[in-house]
Amino acid sequence: MPDELVSSTVQLPEIGDVPRHVAIIMDGNGRWAKQRHLPRAAGHKQGLESVRAIIKACIEREIKYLTIFAFSSENWRRPEDEIKLLMQLFLIALEREVSKLHENGIRFRVIGDISKLDSRIVDCIRQGEILTASNSRLFFTVAANYGGRWDIMQAVRKMMIQAPHLQTNFTEADLSRHLALADAPEPDLFIRTGGECRISNFLLWQLAYTELYFTETLWPDFDAASLNRAIVSYQQRERRFGRTSEQLAAAVPQQAIYKTNRDRSN
Ligand code: IPE
Ligand code: IPE
Ligand code: MG
Repeated sequence: MPDELVSSTVQLPEIGDVPRHVAIIMDGNGRWAKQRHLPRAAGHKQGLESVRAIIKACIEREIKYLTIFAFSSENWRRPEDEIKLLMQLFLIALEREVSKLHENGIRFRVIGDISKLDSRIVDCIRQGEILTASNSRLFFTVAANYGGRWDIMQAVRKMMIQAPHLQTNFTEADLSRHLALADAPEPDLFIRTGGECRISNFLLWQLAYTELYFTETLWPDFDAASLNRAIVSYQQRERRFGRTSEQLAAAVPQQAIYKTNRDRSN
């Protein structure tokens, strides 16, 4: 297994100045529209513009993995009209954007229980995943009908089918290789826009040691400058993974130097 994929609870990960993997809960589209006396649909449409801007900003900052939460397993509880609209927007976005992602060398894929989505959406997802499979400039993942508990449950199910001999004697790695994001490093930075401070059943397993950043900014207003602020906040964190500050300074001299430089520039 490549080093970057090793679990943060099993082995200390290497930490860079820029997060390798950013995971985002894009929240606040409805409130953005409401503030402007517009239908919620307008907020969702504007939210798509932010997705475009953030993909570009991630590439410019050499962030390798971007994972965004588009529709949760609990969003089926929304009014039928809004669900329909969100699905229509998803389909339109897939039809219009996947070729552009490919032209830009972006690998696209979807995580979540897509068997519950319209067959046209599923077809577009499959085609997009195949088309972009060999790209590696940015690994762009959309979570659709995704839930963190669903992810863990489906991983347990797959593990039990593929390795029944393990019975109760399995390791973290035996299970995590079946998780939806098994081939991506754990997120370094989690961003939630819209002011709520919760995880809402996003990547429950994968966020174990992720730095969490919450902002009041509504998703349609979130731009490259907002991403910069999140990254600056990330750079000021001390990622201890269970250790003490003193241990960290002794074990990772580069990180200590980096921190000292930054402290000097403040
Ligand atoms: C996030 O915006 C988009 C989805 C959940 C699909 P919301 O629609 O949740 O916006 P608010 O939270 O109502 O403002
Ligand atoms: C989380 O947003 C899901 C997505 C952004 C897709 P919600 O707006 O649905 O979250 P809750 O229900 O307020 O926690
Ligand atoms: Mg919301």
